[in-house]
This record gives sequence, structure tokens and C-alpha cells, in this order.
Amino acid sequence: MLTLTAPPHVYRERRARLAAALSRPLVILAGYAPARNYATNPHPFRAGSTYLYFGGPPVEAAAWVIEPGSDGDLGCTLLRPPAGPDDALWFGELPQDAELAAAAGVQAAALSDIAGLEQLLGDRLAAVVCPPHPTCTALVRELDLEPAGEAELLPIIDLRLLKDEHELAALRRAAGVSVEAHRAMLAATAVGRNEADVEAAFHAVAVAHGCTPSFTPIVTVRGEVLHGHNRCLTLQDGALLLADAGVEEPGGYAGDITRTYPVNGRFTPLQRSLYEAVLGAQRAGCAACVPGKRFREIHELAARVLCAGLVNAGLLRGDAAQLAERGAHTLFFPHGLGHLLGLDAHDMEDFGDLAGYAPGRTRPTRFGDKYLRLDRDLEPGMVVTIEPGFYMVPAIWRRQDLVDPYADALNRSMVDGLLRDGFGGIRIEDDIHVTPTGPENLTAELPTDAETLAALVSP
Ligand code: GLY
Ligand code: MN
Repeated sequence: MLTLTAPPHVYRERRARLAAALSRPLVILAGYAPARNYATNPHPFRAGSTYLYFGGPPVEAAAWVIEPGSDGDLGCTLLRPPAGPDDALWFGELPQDAELAAAAGVQAAALSDIAGLEQLLGDRLAAVVCPPHPTCTALVRELDLEPAGEAELLPIIDLRLLKDEHELAALRRAAGVSVEAHRAMLAATAVGRNEADVEAAFHAVAVAHGCTPSFTPIVTVRGEVLHGHNRCLTLQDGALLLADAGVEEPGGYAGDITRTYPVNGRFTPLQRSLYEAVLGAQRAGCAACVPGKRFREIHELAARVLCAGLVNAGLLRGDAAQLAERGAHTLFFPHGLGHLLGLDAHDMEDFGDLAGYAPGRTRPTRFGDKYLRLDRDLEPGMVVTIEPGFYMVPAIWRRQDLVDPYADALNRSMVDGLLRDGFGGIRIEDDIHVTPTGPENLTAELPTDAETLAALVSP
């Protein structure tokens, strides 16, 4: 039984809306499973997100061809490789054509052999969207396809930006399992265990729900390494553990949650004051996710609230708004506040800034802020993450060009003490659905307030 995320008519409507904006055929490749050491010993296959969004069943080496002006059915061809003679032997019975066509919302006659792709296109110039896989690249070159440009990508982005009820249901499923997996990690955390023990608890829940990680989990006592995958350190008494992980549900929609907590279940006063600074920024950021609000302004708001928290904690001196305006937060919070979430944890980042940045907007250039992945005005139906942090990154504090401009505002002895003690990092991340009436926190079931969260750590 093949279950896609949305009913067939929804996929037809999506394809029709895309086709209305096209002026040349668009090929959307599903992609291939990456090989490990030889072609028939692959990693699991995961179809490309744009292919899935338009109703592609998860069949390796398949492709959509969408003709300009198609009604979503006629003018849409789903090409797939014919079943091999031994496929049933190795993989069991695979879905039949009638089932594929029904799930995708096309007539059975719309199914065709991928070998006929060149003939279908004839001598027409076609655009292509494909996952980054060498076999896709070779096919694109062989067929002389042109990578989709703004004329194709902007209509795709416009559609994928706003999640419909089917996508929201899938995102809620992913959020729910991600919350459960984080609870299991909290319960598996104890002094003397190690990072891998905790991560294993995440995977057990994911697998039990038929899910996979939506990105490589970050479960570390070295939280200042933003994307650290070391996972071999022992959980020492007094350490903070940063766990950034989410699942992808079977349809491909992602969850993405970060929590940071003391491995012994008790924040020290210093950890607590810095945690509260991040939590204040995170709560302000979540609350500001309302229609019409520019995401960059939410990032700036979170930076101000973080600076206020760091003034309270005694690490910064001065007026919080002025400190944030000057960029003092970037020494401690050197990344953007969040990103789009959907069929990928970093939804549509395969399209570069075309998805994250509204037309005419470009990335900030200042250190730290330049990693802001999203600068759009929020609209109902968008789903974003809100994930500020506080990190003591030695590589930043070795850079005089970054640090010296803020010498007047820094409590240098406190900074040096945190670096000497290897403070690490704190990040708090939730998944926020923007609704007409305000933010819906999809991951609110996992507490963020310090006491409730720390109480979930195994005693
Ligand atoms: N949660 C991982 C990331 O957003 O990069
Ligand atoms: Mn994230």
C-alpha cells in the first residue's frame, strides 16, 4: 500500500498551478540512492522534496515531466524505471502502475518508461530540478537539460512556502514524534553515560514510528560547536548537554527541536542565568511570528532580548538595544534565528537564498548576522524554526577583529572564566506555524522552562 501525504486531487492542483506559470517543460527528478561501496549496496533512497511535493511516489530514478498549461493530469507524465525481473525476489512486490497513478493523481496512461524521457522532450529545451546526485548530474548533461531558473523556481517556492492542511498534519506528526524522541533523550541522560547513549534513545523512538532523522542529530556537551557530531564524550557532572534533533515522518516532513539541559538535572546559577537569557530571546522570537512580520526584525528582536539577558547575567554592560544594534550579540550568538521548515529541515535551501530571502532582499554582511537563512515577511501557512543560542566559541574569542569593537561593553574576566571552564553552548529551538491569529508552536509539548525541563532528566 502506497500512501502519499496528500490526496490525489491536491497533487493535481499543485501541478496545475505550477504548470500555469511555466513556459517550457519542467523535469523534476526523484533522484537515486547514494551508493556505499557499490551500486547495489546503497544507503536508503529518499526522493527529492520537490518531486514529492508534486505527488511523486517514492520510486528511485523516477521523474515528473510537467508541460506548460497542464491541468495537473493531462500534460503531466510520471516516468519510472520498469520493474526488473528479480526486483520481487530482492525487494518484495512493488507497487503496480495503477496504484502509482492513483496515488499521484494521474491517469494510468500518464505513466511511462524513464528511458523514454529524451524522446518525450524531443528537441525542446526543458528545465530540470533534481537532487544533488552524480547520476542526476550525468543525466542532466546527457539530455542537455537546463537547471531551473527563477522562472521555474519562484512558482515552486511560492507554492511550497505556504503549507496546506495535509502538510501541516504531516509536520504535526513529525513534531510529535520529535518531542517523544527528545523526552527519551532526557530520560536517557545521566552523569557517567555518554553522548551516544543519549542519541541512541532518539533513534529508538524514531525507528519505532517509522521515521528517520531529518538531519544528523547534534547531541553534545560541546554545544559551542554549532553542528558538532562527535558523540563520544562522557557526560560529566556539571555539564550541559545540547540536543538538536528531529525526525522526518514517512511522507518526508521534518521536525527540528533543540533543548539544552544539565546532565545532572540541576542548573548552576551561572548556567541558569545564561539559559534564561536565551529562553527570553526564544520566547520573544516565537511570540513575534505573526503575519506581516519581517523575519529579520524577529532576529533583531531576539538579539536585543539576548543582550538584555546578558546584561542581567553580568556578561555585557550597557543599553541592550544599543548593544544589539552594534552587534555585540554576534560574539555569543553567531548564527541566524531560524529557517523554513517543511519537506526538509532546512526547507528549500537547495534553491539557495531564493527561497529564504524575499525578492530584492539580500543577506546581511556583518559577522554572525550573515548566517541568517530567512528574511521574508511571514504569512499564514509558513512554518519556521526559532532557535537562538549562546555559545562560548574559542575561535571567535581568538579573533581580535571581532572582539575589539566591543571591548568597552564586555565583562572580560567573566568571558575568560567561561572560556577557561569550557562553558560550551545553549540553544533552544521550536517549530512555529504562522497562523492568521498568531504563532502555533508545533513543539510546545516539550518544555523549555528551566525547572520543568531539568526535571525530565533521569534522576
Ligand atoms: N537544527 C539544525 C539546524 O537548524 O541547522
Ligand atoms: Mn534548526
